[in-house]
Amino acid sequence: MIRCFTGFLLLFVCFSPVISDEFERHPNDGWYNNLVHPEWGAVDTHLLRLSPADYSDGVYEPAGKARPNPFTISQIAFSGSNRLGSARNRNALLVFFGQQLVEEIMDVQRPGCPIEFFNIPVPKDHTYNPDGKENLEMPFRRARYDQRTGFSPNNPRQQLNEITPYMDGTLVYGPGKAVEDAIRLFKDGLLKTTSQNIKESFPAENSIRLPYANPPSPRDHVLRPVSRFRLYGNPRSHENPFLVTLSTVWFRYHNYVASRLKRKNPSWDDEALFLAARKRVIGQYQKIAMYEWLPSFLEIKPRSSVPTFNMADYPYKGGGKNVYKGYSPNVHPGISSEFQAAAMRFGHTLVPAGVKTKRIRTSCFDSRRPVQARFTNKANGFRNNQTEINVTGIRLCNSYWVPEETVEEEPGVDEIVRGMVYTRSAREDNILVSDIRENLFGPLDWSRRDLGALNIQRGRDLGLPGYNAVREAYGLPRIDRWEDINKKGFFSGVIKNLKSLYGNTSAPDELDLFPGGLLETTNDGPGELFRTIILDQFLRIRHGDRFWYENENTG
Ligand code: HEM
Ligand SMILES: *[C@@H]1O[C@H](CO)[C@@H](O)[C@H](O)[C@H]1NC(C)=O
Ligand SMILES: *[C@@H]1O[C@H](CO)[C@@H](O)[C@H](O)[C@H]1NC(C)=O
Ligand SMILES: *[C@@H]1O[C@H](CO)[C@@H](O)[C@H](O)[C@H]1NC(C)=O
Repeated sequence: MIRCFTGFLLLFVCFSPVISDEFERHPNDGWYNNLVHPEWGAVDTHLLRLSPADYSDGVYEPAGKARPNPFTISQIAFSGSNRLGSARNRNALLVFFGQQLVEEIMDVQRPGCPIEFFNIPVPKDHTYNPDGKENLEMPFRRARYDQRTGFSPNNPRQQLNEITPYMDGTLVYGPGKAVEDAIRLFKDGLLKTTSQNIKESFPAENSIRLPYANPPSPRDHVLRPVSRFRLYGNPRSHENPFLVTLSTVWFRYHNYVASRLKRKNPSWDDEALFLAARKRVIGQYQKIAMYEWLPSFLEIKPRSSVPTFNMADYPYKGGGKNVYKGYSPNVHPGISSEFQAAAMRFGHTLVPAGVKTKRIRTSCFDSRRPVQARFTNKANGFRNNQTEINVTGIRLCNSYWVPEETVEEEPGVDEIVRGMVYTRSAREDNILVSDIRENLFGPLDWSRRDLGALNIQRGRDLGLPGYNAVREAYGLPRIDRWEDINKKGFFSGVIKNLKSLYGNTSAPDELDLFPGGLLETTNDGPGELFRTIILDQFLRIRHGDRFWYENENTG
């Protein structure tokens, strides 16, 4: 058993009084985590569907043939100010921890082979179409799927998750044993590192060319060799500097735990040290993700109830009062399509346009101050007057796919982590900041894309049914009038315009899931539907993992 105490992410200290001699490890590929259903949670298995597939031909053609253009929906539903901050003091650390968590539990981004395009037509008045061309399209590649599916309505197309849904250290140790072995030092349980001094260390360079995600950076728009990256476990780490920063934190934490174990247990060999450190890192990750991150993401208050859940199956009480009632081999941990293509993408509305980095010469305790909205070069507004604070920032749209140079020179890991703590997230609303809405990175032939439009198109690619069908599938009542989508009456203008765009139907049945769920948002965070989908997913990940850190019956 591991006893840990965590405050803020960087202050984790792990006391590990006992270690059993032998234990079974989280299998890298997820196979046989579940002994009754060995393939549940294994790599490259199907996404689950909790709502019925709604392909337009019943088999594999994208859903929503008659629905409006995703660019038009994005313009109406997701555009707005970049400058609105969180109403609940959520910060950028929560956002990027969330993005990293996504990369720990799913990867459904690879296109099929041969590539199937499902491009999005660009309207004539769109900024991507300055010449007003008739037939301009933004490329969109349909997701890879199980090629044994998609032949008949009884066997509709099913997409595949390339990694395991478990929180099993994929982002620290890589998707698969081969990557893990490539990044290990095979000495003292360590990962390959640039420095003995953990605080200054980074993973070794990727001279062996592990195939990490490596699109062109919009900054210079040329393809550059993958060897410029470092050997992080998460193959998508390099997308932005904040992800790489968090990857560095976990990388250092592994080596820190391994060296502590080595000091206490000088006789242990590399393998024993590595496995014991890995187990602790994973346990720590699970604890932070489930009990610190998730309640803040969903704003679960200690005494709020979650009415749409069967509490007997899922004894989730929220806040500090979570009760873990044990592992069940009957709980399928698989990622649901509704979670992948829509609900978890709620995080996109929280993404800030940039992060203010923060240099500060003081003790760690400053990191625990409440997040402040105001930034100033003077010391005013902060408790400790003696502290001089210099603030600079990293703009997201300028820093895609050039993370190493951003993180390793100025401002550096510590400044970025501190900055994430101090920078508010974007507001819990319908808006995606321009850095991801119009200025997301893209492939060589389309340098900037719109993530709002991509999210909608992905939902159609996966054959997701409309908003009300998904609500019903998750046990929630239908919404019969567009005006009732948002319980607090927020975004009524946006909803009115969408209603008109979707053809003035009386009920929002055909409304795509991503905008539908997002428009339920209140200041607390995700509305009823997204919250239900997200909670269902994380509870299944927790209860369906035989190696969950609170499960005392394994290792
Ligand atoms: C800088 C911030 C972020 C950027 C640039 C970004 C960008 C992207 C892109 C390009 C995709 C693929 C879209 C597609 O073709 O389907 C994606 C997928 C996704 N995003 Fe984000 N995202 C960010 C932050 C987040 C956050 C904070 C969350 C949630 C907390 C999130 C949740 C997801 C999910 C669940 C997927 C599907 C992943 C998969 O299937 O592998 N993203 N994002
Ligand atoms: C901070 O500055 C204010 C005004 O200059 C002063 O009244 C206060 O005592 C100072 N607090 C600390 C902790 O030094
Ligand atoms: C902040 O910036 C000023 C002006 O560039 C500089 O003189 C000062 O030393 C900086 N302070 C810290 C703590 O870095
Ligand atoms: C919906 O109704 C509004 C107002 O009556 C009208 O302006 C609009 O053109 C209608 N939309 C469609 C797609 O018919």
